[in-house]
Parts: sequence; C-alpha cells; structure tokens
Amino acid sequence: MSTTQKGIAVDARPKRQATAKNIASMKGGTPIVCLTAYITPMAARLDKHCDLLLVGDSVGMVLYGMDSTLGVDLDTMIRHGRAVCRGAEQALVVIDLPFGTYEESKEQAFRNAARALSETGAGAVKLEGGREMAETVSFLSNRGIPVLGHVGLMPQSVHAHGGYGARGRSVDEWQPIIDDAIAIAEAGAFAVVLEGVAEPLARKVTEAVQCPVIGIGASNACDGQILVTEDMLGLFAINPKFVKRFAEIGRDIEDAIGGYADEVRKRSFPAEEHTYKMRGSNS
Ligand code: KIV
Repeated sequence: MSTTQKGIAVDARPKRQATAKNIASMKGGTPIVCLTAYITPMAARLDKHCDLLLVGDSVGMVLYGMDSTLGVDLDTMIRHGRAVCRGAEQALVVIDLPFGTYEESKEQAFRNAARALSETGAGAVKLEGGREMAETVSFLSNRGIPVLGHVGLMPQSVHAHGGYGARGRSVDEWQPIIDDAIAIAEAGAFAVVLEGVAEPLARKVTEAVQCPVIGIGASNACDGQILVTEDMLGLFAINPKFVKRFAEIGRDIEDAIGGYADEVRKRSFPAEEHTYKMRGSNS
C-alpha cells in the first residue's frame, strides 16, 4: 500500500484491468465472458473469470425488488459502480446509464456518463438504443467515454414495446435490429449487447457489425455472452428461457437459514466453540 497526498490509502500493485479496446479486439476470437455485478464481494469472485463486469440497471429488479428497471437513478448506479470497482482487478467494469439520464440530448448523456466514470473508476458506460442513439454514442466515444451499446430487446423500452418478449422471431422484424446494431457500431461503440433475439438474426447481426456482439438470450452465434449473475446462480425468482442455472444458491440459502433458525430455537447454536470465555479460564 502507498498513500496519496490526501492521505488516502491506495494499492500500489499495478492493476492489469481490461480496457474497452481490449474487449473490442476480441471480435471473432475466444468468446467474451461477461456477467452483471452490483456489490464488492460478488465482483471480487467474478473478476478472475470474466472479461467484463456490467453494473446493470437490473440492480433495481434484482436487489431492490422493482418490477422494471425504469425507477433506477444515477446515484444508485454510481454507488453500486463504486462497490464493484473495489472488487474488480482485471475485468472491465461497465456502468449502465439508467432510464432518463441520456436520451434527452448528447450533452445530458455526456454529463451523466462522465459522472458515472469519474465517480466510480469504471472504464465504460452502457446505454440502450439503436439508430436514434447513434449521434450520442459518437459524441461520447469522441470525447473519451467508451460506450457499450444495447439493441434488440431493450428493457428500458418495456412500455413502448409492450413487454419483454423475444424480438426478431419473424424475418420482417430483422432489418431494424440489424440497422440499429450497425448504427451503434459505426458510431464508435466498442461492443454491442444484443438481447432477446432469435438465433439466425443474432448470427446476421454478429456478421454485420465490426465490433463484438455480446448476447443475452441471443444464442451461441454472438462474440460473447452476458447473464444476470443472480439469474444463473438461482438467486432470482424470474427464470427466462435463455438462462441456464449453474447453481441453486437460492435453495442453498433457504436450507442454511432453516438450519440456523432450527439451531437457535433448540439452543444448539451458539455452541461452546462460538462462545467467548473469561480471561484465565481454561475451558
Ligand atoms: O441491466 C442489465 O443487467 C443488462 C444486462 C442484462 C445486459 O442490461
């Protein structure tokens, strides 16, 4: 550890944190591994396995019980962004810009994206939208803010789209989504999240754009994958078709809490080994 002029302890080891450029260079290579993270201990566990950690606005639903992402504000994203950055050493940390913080103008987007980066230490922001957001993506990218795009199913547009159903399941729905992805990539996004689309469309989009396409519910045809960590760990009740549960942590937590409650009621916890003794006592 060393100390800054302000007396803040900093870790002197050089961090080998991935950058947006590193992620962009992974197009067509080994698939890019991404997960969401909202808190330090989880970020620390995910970090060594992931190329990118997304502080998703899904935090509103997963941690705060909201029924959509629309109520999440920038301060919440910044608080969780800081927590994740404390736990991440090598993965690129990306902060989701929440609904209402970037759509109004490119200047509004810059102001809020700059806060998201400067107040957390993250390396990029994510925003939802296709052709209509291309000018904003270009404005941010040209001013030092790496942008991860997000097209296809866009949860912040749930009211406009009328739900979370998969997109592109008939060919006549394909072109607008392909055009959206191309527009965002050409505007300078270092990668694009493609959510909730049928496999042949995911393949087309991945072939059509220069930057990596990171799929969620978008088949194996993409350059990488992202999931909400709590979904794949079995910690979140909603279980869409595209989620594979790699663990059942929710069930394990219930078993553990049941065991604790039982032992407390039977007075078998705390046991001797969990109990402080008086100094000098030999038991
Ligand atoms: O908010 C989020 O977690 C996301 C991912 C699901 C891509 O946008």
